[in-house]
Amino acid sequence: MMHRDIEQILYTEEELRRRVRDLGAQINADYAGRKPLLASVLRGSFIFMADLTRAIDLDVTVDFMVVSSYGAGTVSSGQVEIKKDLSDSIEGRDLIIVEDILDSGNTLYYLMEVLRARKPASIRICTLMDKPERRTKPITADYVGFTIPDAFIVGYGLDYDEKYRNLPYVGVLKPSVYGK
Ligand code: PRP
Repeated sequence: MMHRDIEQILYTEEELRRRVRDLGAQINADYAGRKPLLASVLRGSFIFMADLTRAIDLDVTVDFMVVSSYGAGTVSSGQVEIKKDLSDSIEGRDLIIVEDILDSGNTLYYLMEVLRARKPASIRICTLMDKPERRTKPITADYVGFTIPDAFIVGYGLDYDEKYRNLPYVGVLKPSVYGK
């Protein structure tokens, strides 16, 4: 059943499952013999992170950080704040940053700078969704689940005003919901 605030389902549960499995397989192949550290940028990535981690069969470790840039708006303010940092050191580690969506690139541009300074052995970005049209910072992801058009999407961890994260699919929000 589609939520009443959703205009259209972009990716069903099954499509998400399949794509996340593919990403996991790619990471298994690329990091064979290594022990990558998956660092999830909360909150949006929590569901993707949980599914991706289970699609990887290497000796992975996980860590989490909370970053905020949007507030209640639909457009990034450009202000990025680390509200909770990673718990462990990343020095010498093969770091994979796990994001739900790469939009303007502000968040990751800033984060990459901060994390690079901590001297990991390598850093790659894995994002479930990529909106390249909206990019204002020179950031590209190494692993992309879906390249999507510039629509306001929610579900599978993604919110609008903290709602809809629990939808099992990714859907386009009705413009009437965010006041257009
Ligand atoms: C979203 C998303 C990314 C960021 C991407 O987070 O999780 O971190 O925006 O946008 P950008 O490329 O324009 O910086 P948000 O601030 O909405 O917080 P959330 O993860 O708690 O939903």
